[in-house]
Amino acid sequence: MPHVLISGGSRGIGRAAAELFAKNGWLVTCLYHTKTPIFDENITGIRCDVSNSILVTHAVQEAESKFGPIDCLISNAGISVKGLAQDFKENDYRKVMDTNFGGLFNLANAAIPGMVSRKKGVIIAVSSMWGQTGASCEALYSASKGAVDAYVRSLAKELGPSGIRVNAVSPGVINTDMLKDYSDKDLQDLAETTPLGRLGSPEEVAKAMLFLSSDGASFITGQVIGVNGGFLT
Ligand code: NAI
Repeated sequence: MPHVLISGGSRGIGRAAAELFAKNGWLVTCLYHTKTPIFDENITGIRCDVSNSILVTHAVQEAESKFGPIDCLISNAGISVKGLAQDFKENDYRKVMDTNFGGLFNLANAAIPGMVSRKKGVIIAVSSMWGQTGASCEALYSASKGAVDAYVRSLAKELGPSGIRVNAVSPGVINTDMLKDYSDKDLQDLAETTPLGRLGSPEEVAKAMLFLSSDGASFITGQVIGVNGGFLT
C-alpha cells in the first residue's frame, strides 16, 4: 500500500484528506499537534509540532520505520492570525512563518532525501488564495502562504529531475475551524462573493490532493492549483 504523511490531520482539511486517502487504499500517517484524535482504520497519528525541525525529523523517521517510505507528503498544518499589519509583534511573525512556511520546510527536508534516493515521490503543500492575492488584515498569513507558493515552484524545478512532483493546493474559503471567528454575516458575504455561491468543504480540497497524488497528475508539477469556487481566477 502507498504511504501518505499528512500534517495537521486531526481536523478540517487534513482530516478529510486522511479519510479520503485511507478510503482509496493508502496507509496514512497523520501528524497532530495538541489533542490526541481518534482515527479510522489505516490512519495512524504521531504527535508533532511542525514548526520544530527536530520533532519533524523524528516523526518522519518513525512513520517510515513503521509503514515504509513516504510516497506522498502533504504539508497541511497551518494557523491564521488576523489584525492590522502595524499591530503584529515579532512573536506573531515567528509563529505564523514557523508554522505555515517552516512546517513545509521542515517536512520537505525530512522527506526529500528518501524520495531522491528512490527517484520518486509527491509533495503537496496547502497554500491559500490569500498567498496569491494578499488579504487585508491577514498580511502575515498571506505572506507565509506566498512563501509556500514560491517554495513549491522552486522545489518542483530542483526535484523534477529526481522524479519528484511538487504542487500546492490553494483553497478559497473552506468551512473548517479556521473560520470560527467569522460572524455569520461575514461567512454569508464570503459565500456570496464566491462565484459558486457557497463555501467549500474540506472534502473538496482533499479530492484535489488525491488527484495530485495520482498518476492522473503525472505531468503536473510546480503548480498552485486553486480550489476556490472561482473566488480567484
Ligand atoms: P484547522 O484549523 O481546522 O486545521 C489546522 C490544522 O493544523 C489542525 O489540525 C491543527 O492542529 C494543525 N496545526 C496547527 N499548528 C500546528 C503545528 N505547529 N504543528 C502541527 N499541526 C499544527 O484549519 P483548516 O482549514 O483545516 O486548515 C488546513 C490548511 O488549509 C491550513 O494550512 C490553512 O492555512 C489552509 N487553508 C484553509 C482555508 C480555510 O478557509 N479553511 C483557506 C485557505 C487555506
